[in-house]
Amino acid sequence: MKVGILTSGGDCAGLNAVMRAIALNLYENEKNVEIVGFRDGYAGLIRGEAVPMQRADFEGLLLVGGTVLGTTRTPFKLMSVPEENGATRLAKMVASYKKLGLDCLFTLGGAGTHRTAALLCAEGCNVIGLPKTIDNDIYGTDVTFGFHTAVDVAADALVRVRTTSESHRRTMLVEVMGNKAGWLTLYAGIAGGADVILLPEIPFSIDKVCEAVSRGYAAGKRCCIIAVGEGAVLDSEAPFKRRERVFVRADRGETTVTRHLAEVIGERTGAETRATVLGYIQRGGEPSAYDRVLCTRLGSFAAQLCRRGRFGVTVAVSGNRITFNALTDIAGKYKFVDPNGEIVRAAEETGVSFGR
Ligand code: F6P
Repeated sequence: MKVGILTSGGDCAGLNAVMRAIALNLYENEKNVEIVGFRDGYAGLIRGEAVPMQRADFEGLLLVGGTVLGTTRTPFKLMSVPEENGATRLAKMVASYKKLGLDCLFTLGGAGTHRTAALLCAEGCNVIGLPKTIDNDIYGTDVTFGFHTAVDVAADALVRVRTTSESHRRTMLVEVMGNKAGWLTLYAGIAGGADVILLPEIPFSIDKVCEAVSRGYAAGKRCCIIAVGEGAVLDSEAPFKRRERVFVRADRGETTVTRHLAEVIGERTGAETRATVLGYIQRGGEPSAYDRVLCTRLGSFAAQLCRRGRFGVTVAVSGNRITFNALTDIAGKYKFVDPNGEIVRAAEETGVSFGR
């Protein structure tokens, strides 16, 4: 059996742990296993550069952050556009797959990666996708690997800024990653004890946020911790397209709403405000114990599917079961926070403001 592996899109903790689980399952259960890795995601497959890998290359990877194969973002929309020599990137990938004589390609990535994986399947390649992203926004799976590690990191940051904010009686805005979906901000916000949580899915009113800040101080709190999703939007911005919002924000020299909000809260409530952007810290470092278990289960299951000849799917979690979805059913679809769902309500009913 000859298989290829690639990691595509933004990295996260757990990519190496998943590759390890796929490889070890295959080595343990099949006689002649040949594994090649593609460097820098689909870019490596397009170039047709396959790196031969051995069992020893995978064995120490359970705790290693990032991806040993490297990754890039390779936009889905460019896959079918002919390049200078007339061949599309898709055609080049299919040619590499066939030339190498692969029985299966494992693609570890997010929603964009799965869209390209579905294209490869349509061209006759055997592909199995694995759901990676700190954003947890892949349709058809309860959870993605990398998400809970990022939640731990962001929640820890929220807890840490509380002590310094209390010392100084400050209102602290902490920007959490997640451009389209607010899962990471929601979970980290709840786990980190945030007083206000602002998500892309729930456009917020500045008045309501200021009310929540003032209410907290009036009730004797010494600080206010606000978890701001990277993609959070003001209610006044909500009717506009993303591109128009970017334009307006660029006038203020910003890409997100965090610093503007910090300024306005300061002006309106008199609170001393500070903003912290967590950024790539959330994607780095070793996977949490939870993610190490999840990665092992997902990777091992993906290898089982390959051994059974079940392709054109992406591995998923449903309830506490590892299962799979057809790539054609989930490619291009996202999973968003339900503004009126149980998790948001649980937080709201315990006093957290979502600025609405
Ligand atoms: O998709 C994961 C993610 O971390 C988002 O939360 C964030 O908006 C984006 O990637 C950042 O992407 P890049 O690595 O391209 O800067």
